[in-house]
Formats: sequence, C-alpha cells, structure tokens
Amino acid sequence: MDRIAVLTSGGDAPGMNACIRAVVRTALNSKMDIYGIERGYAGLIKGEINRLNTRSVSDMIHRGGTFLNTARCPEFKEVEVQRQAAEALSAYGIEGLVVIGGDGTLRGAKDLSDKFGIKVMGIPCTIDNDLNYTDYTVGFDTAVNTVLWAINNLRDTFHSHDRVGLLEVMGRNCGDIALYAGVAGGAEYVLVPEIPYDLDKISSSIKKSYLRGKTSNMIILAEGAGNRDEIAEYVAKKTGISVKVTNFGHIQRGGSPNMADRVLAARFGYKAVELLKENQDSCAIGIKDNKIITVSYDDIAKAPKKFDNELYNIAHVLGL
Ligand code: ADP
Ligand code: F6P
Repeated sequence: MDRIAVLTSGGDAPGMNACIRAVVRTALNSKMDIYGIERGYAGLIKGEINRLNTRSVSDMIHRGGTFLNTARCPEFKEVEVQRQAAEALSAYGIEGLVVIGGDGTLRGAKDLSDKFGIKVMGIPCTIDNDLNYTDYTVGFDTAVNTVLWAINNLRDTFHSHDRVGLLEVMGRNCGDIALYAGVAGGAEYVLVPEIPYDLDKISSSIKKSYLRGKTSNMIILAEGAGNRDEIAEYVAKKTGISVKVTNFGHIQRGGSPNMADRVLAARFGYKAVELLKENQDSCAIGIKDNKIITVSYDDIAKAPKKFDNELYNIAHVLGL
C-alpha cells in the first residue's frame, strides 16, 4: 500500500493530535504518502483532503483537540453519502484509511470497509472510555485527571462551608469518567448509568454522616445517570442540607494529553499503519492487559460490557 489517509471524527479528545502524529510519522517512515482529511467524515465527503509531511505534525504531541478538526456528520449513515466518501478516496488514489474517534466513528469505518472494500483501521479515541472491546481509549486518562483537578478545588470550598456538592461529568451512557475520578478524588457517592442507585438511601447516609461529625459530602454524577438538578433538589429536600451543583462541561474534553494518552496514541497510531502496510483486513485497534490487540468490526458489538463493579464497590467503601 503506497498511499493512506487519516481523519479524526466525533467528539475531540486529548491525544488525538499525538495519534495523528504517530500515523503520519509511521507512514512516512514506511515510504507511504499520507493525507489528512479535515473535519472527519463531513470533510471526507466534500473532498477536504491535503497531503501531510513530517513538519505537519511538528509541535503537536502536547496539544489538546485535533488540528485536522472533527465533526459530527449524521448523514454519513446513508449509503449514498458513504459512496461519496469512497469516491473521494479513490479520486486521490488513497488505498487505506485510519479513523480516530469513538463508537460512532468505528461504525462508519465498518460501513466503508464492508460496503466499499476500503481498508480502514480504527483507533479508539474518546474521553468516554465507552468501547467494551478495549480496556482504554485515548483521551480518557487525561479527562479523568482534569475532572480530578475540579474535584480538588470543589473539596476546598465545600469543606470550608460544610456543604454537599454534586459534580456532573461527561461520558454519555458510560460511567467510567465518574467512577475513576470519584475513586481518585475520594468522592462519597458515584452515580453511574450502569448501576441503579437509591436517593433515599444516599440522603439518609448523608444525614447520618453529619451526625457523626462529617461536614462535607461529594457526589459525582455521570451525565447518563440522571438529571443533576432533580437529584440535588431531592437530596436537599430529604436531608435539609443545601446541595451545590457544578456541571463541569467541555473543560474536561480539552487540555494537553498526559503521558498515558500520548503513549497509547503512539502505540495505536503505529499499529494502524503497520496493519495497512501489511494489507491486513480492516479492524479496530485496542489494548487489553497492556497488549495491543486487533478486533474485527463485527466483534466489537459482541464484546461484553466492561464496567468495573469491584472498583464501584471500592468507591463506596472508601467514601464513607
Ligand atoms: P464518536 O465517534 O465519538 O462516538 P459520534 O457518535 O458523533 O462520535 O460519531 C461520529 C460520526 O461517525 C458521526 O457523526 C457519523 O458521521 C459517524 N457514524 C456514527 N454512527 C454511525 C453509523 N451507525 N453508521 C455510519 N456512520 C456512523
Ligand atoms: O463523546 C464525547 C462527549 O464529550 C460525551 O461525553 C458528551 O456526551 C458529548 O461528547 C458531548 O457532545 P457535544 O460536544 O457535541 O456537545
């Protein structure tokens, strides 16, 4: 394979630039032409395709976001739109594609591969860590550390005022950001979509903790686990203690990737290009037990849910 391309799609994540850099430099090292596609699938169907060189990715490893830009492109689910993408690649003589993104992005990759015979390697890169076939996605670790910074700051003020705080974090339908940040930040309660919770029990436990002399409690809420204002109102009513709500929002999606995400990006990007060089079948790349793995797009959907129940229990044992 002589000519390949790379794109980033879906929500941006810290480490996307490091991933593009790994793809570009590995391709150039293998004497392949490498093209960058702007704005994910939206740019691909419009033919927003530019040649990249080693300098294109200079000074990028530490930057958050994605210099290729990203987009959501709902119309990409239609086969005729996918055909336009395949034609754009063919017009540039591009034989293989590396897509960097989350669950939706990998679905698009499967379609391009299944319906148009394009070799597409998928790199999991999303703060949500919501892909079951891989232990980690690029961007998750940095996002959790950013949330941790917020928890530390909230702790200072809530402890000073004897308050209950509720912090909502992202993750779509996955509770991993809340769980890992909750454990690392010493939160008392972690509410995730994967595990049912009982607000009456939580309220009574908060009340009892005040009687024991504990003056501050932190609840971390995954966005997919309920409505932050309704939960805060309910707990405040039941306990008689005001609950201060913070929605951390998009701050957790930006910032310089940390070591874990940069190294993962390097390993994934390198592997993706090696697979294209060897003309291997399309697949998604992941990591299991610190080993790089490849999984067919069909098998991604079959991977069992990977929520860490033990860590969830630890969060609540240590938080009380
Ligand atoms: P992420 O990749 O982070 O999960 P999205 O869910 O927004 O983000 O998906 C990114 C893009 O992938 C979508 O905007 C769309 O272009 C494409 N995509 C998502 N779902 C599908 C699907 N079922 N079939 C084909 N393409 C899809
Ligand atoms: O998938 C990443 C993510 O940040 C989710 O955690 C969140 O639900 C969503 O994207 C937000 O999307 P947008 O930036 O389009 O509002």
